[in-house]
Amino acid sequence: MANIAVLNGRLMPLSRAVISVEDRGYSFGDGVYEVVRVYGGVPFLLREHLWRFERSAQAIQLSRRPSPAQWERWARRAVAASGHDEAKLYLQLTRGVAPRDHVFPPKSRPTALVTVRPLTPFPIDPKGGVRVVTMPDIRWGRCDIKSLNLLPNVLAKQYAKQRGVFEALFIRPAVGVTEGSSSNLFLVARDGTVVTPPAGPTILSGITREAVIALARQDGLKVIEAAISPQQLAEAAELFLTGTLSEVVPVVRVDDRPVGLGRPGPFTLQLAGRFGQWVRQQTGQRRNDENERSMAGHRPVRASRVRRRK
Ligand code: PDD
Repeated sequence: MANIAVLNGRLMPLSRAVISVEDRGYSFGDGVYEVVRVYGGVPFLLREHLWRFERSAQAIQLSRRPSPAQWERWARRAVAASGHDEAKLYLQLTRGVAPRDHVFPPKSRPTALVTVRPLTPFPIDPKGGVRVVTMPDIRWGRCDIKSLNLLPNVLAKQYAKQRGVFEALFIRPAVGVTEGSSSNLFLVARDGTVVTPPAGPTILSGITREAVIALARQDGLKVIEAAISPQQLAEAAELFLTGTLSEVVPVVRVDDRPVGLGRPGPFTLQLAGRFGQWVRQQTGQRRNDENERSMAGHRPVRASRVRRRK
């Protein structure tokens, strides 16, 4: 087992991968990235991630970039060479090395990097859920681009950590609660409707988010993409977060208030279990994962069941 990098097409141990101090990713955060989870040696939803990567690169006019097919070859090669079964696959593309100047360099070649490291899953107890805090969304107007400029996200996650909670939720004036610093937000209303903020410039539309929307609809749940106000957040029956590394995470407390009954609700547990099941189907392997087993024990619920409980 080894931590591996593919830097501009060359496979090497991660510890050997070095780039110039004049790389524009370093000077300006002038680049884009993706994080893909590897389950049982299989990069999960790799094509979907590569498609979003391509869109992010196009959006910042990063030309002369490798094709998605090329990235896929590098990614699969890196994962195979690492020997890691459960891993974090990271892809990054910057505008390359050039003397520091804000305008695009006329001739630079983009720096293309793939890394693979073993994954230590988040220690989330699905029955206990996590706590979150809210804070102002100070990010720019193109959060749909997965850019390297993560300073507001870094500060938000640190704020959450300092308060002893899992995640910080961003609130944007005139928009509402947008997402977490590295996760998307879902709410289950008291009538059982699942709500998540719409894809657009104020969120990064997660690959996990898209999958959970599709799975929820397959299960007969009503899912709408609509803005979530702070008031709706406060009145939610259930809340959960989604992300590549964390999967589906129940939220049981926002700031000082419990969510619903203060424990993960039936819709969240159903979707968390469903997502885990789907990952196993897609990656063709069985994970011996305590979290998945405990969530799989929950019976599916329908909107009608929760309505009756009101
Ligand atoms: N972050 N929103 C933001 C701001 C994110 O950074 C992420 C993921 C998500 C969830 O997207 P996905 O389901 O595609 O992972 C939503 C990655 C994991 C990161 O920056 O480490």
